Amino acid sequence: MKYTIAVIPGDGIGPEVTEQAKKALNAVADVYNHTFIYKEALMGACAIDATGNPLPDETIKTCKASDAILFGAIGHPKYDNDPTAKVRPEQGLLKLRKELGLFCNVRPVKAYDQLIENSPLKKEIIQGTDISIYRELTGGIYFGIKELSDDGKVAFDGCSYSVEEIERIAHLAFKEAQNRRKKLTLVDKANVLETSRLWRKTVTELSNQYPDVTLDFLFVDNAAMQMILNPKQFDVILTENLFGDIISDEASVIGGSIGLLASASVGEKNALFEPIHGSFPQATGKDIANPLASILSAAMLLNHLGLHEEAKAVEKAVEKSLVLGITTEDIQGKDSFSASTSKVGDFIADYIENQDDSNLNFKNIHMGQSTII
Ligand code: IPM
Ligand code: MN
Repeated sequence: MKYTIAVIPGDGIGPEVTEQAKKALNAVADVYNHTFIYKEALMGACAIDATGNPLPDETIKTCKASDAILFGAIGHPKYDNDPTAKVRPEQGLLKLRKELGLFCNVRPVKAYDQLIENSPLKKEIIQGTDISIYRELTGGIYFGIKELSDDGKVAFDGCSYSVEEIERIAHLAFKEAQNRRKKLTLVDKANVLETSRLWRKTVTELSNQYPDVTLDFLFVDNAAMQMILNPKQFDVILTENLFGDIISDEASVIGGSIGLLASASVGEKNALFEPIHGSFPQATGKDIANPLASILSAAMLLNHLGLHEEAKAVEKAVEKSLVLGITTEDIQGKDSFSASTSKVGDFIADYIENQDDSNLNFKNIHMGQSTII
């Protein structure tokens, strides 16, 4: 089959990691006889530099005309510490999410056995963790009214949610729970926030339609604690935009590196796939960033296109790279023999193409023993 994929490399390490995801997709195209047509587009600090706009109209057009969007990372330090900046890279991503109606952000969190010692959390606490976080992505405080008083002394961010916004993502989260361990936890702050009380009421009413799913509730402060005390208790977590942003970064510690966490942002018509990590400016251009989150995002993209076997092949290659220790320095440690971003990408593409031989070839390359077998 033929698919058009909009590719937005973005800022910082975005281009480097996205390149590795494309290698994996190209290998899939080869093995399974697909054609992926990539249409590159600008967003973020690089788009501001080139056009003055973090999300050029051209990018929106390219994305709308695609079957799926692969996105790298966004952000640049020159904007982070300048509260007066009128245009910011992140506005590009937020506007794209809104324009395309990507209301449902799915962030899988899993403790890989091979990386169990990488997490600062104890093995017995994290082993077996497998969580699917459903984060609402186009509403809440991110998109509420924002104000700054004329004298610059009072700021305001409004948070609103409608029943409709809550219901559409809740349905998806319940369905995900039905396909998993049948438990859904709504994370909110219903003891304080009116919006959270609406979430609880709406989700509780909806739960009648999913009698096989056990629904429970946690206040976000408690959820943040439970996430590191006993993450295995969670199956599917449903939450609003800001809480989802925060607890998914927290949850990434379970996996041993934020460089492993992929995500899918899905709407009625479009879908975008991106690592949850940021642009990691310190690593830009150094070929040291972990490409696995981007590659796993490509696997989620394949699943979205209905290419499940292909997605499995990518996931399997990622697991193999972890087993063989062909991983970047965030996992291997700086002093040990870590692989570069591009080497990890090469291994994964090679493994997808040629499972039987590739690990031998690459193990030797990795050990510095030989380049050709
Ligand atoms: C994320 C990021 C974004 C967010 C930023 C870059 C606007 O942190 O995707 O988690 O806060 O949603
Ligand atoms: Mn975030």
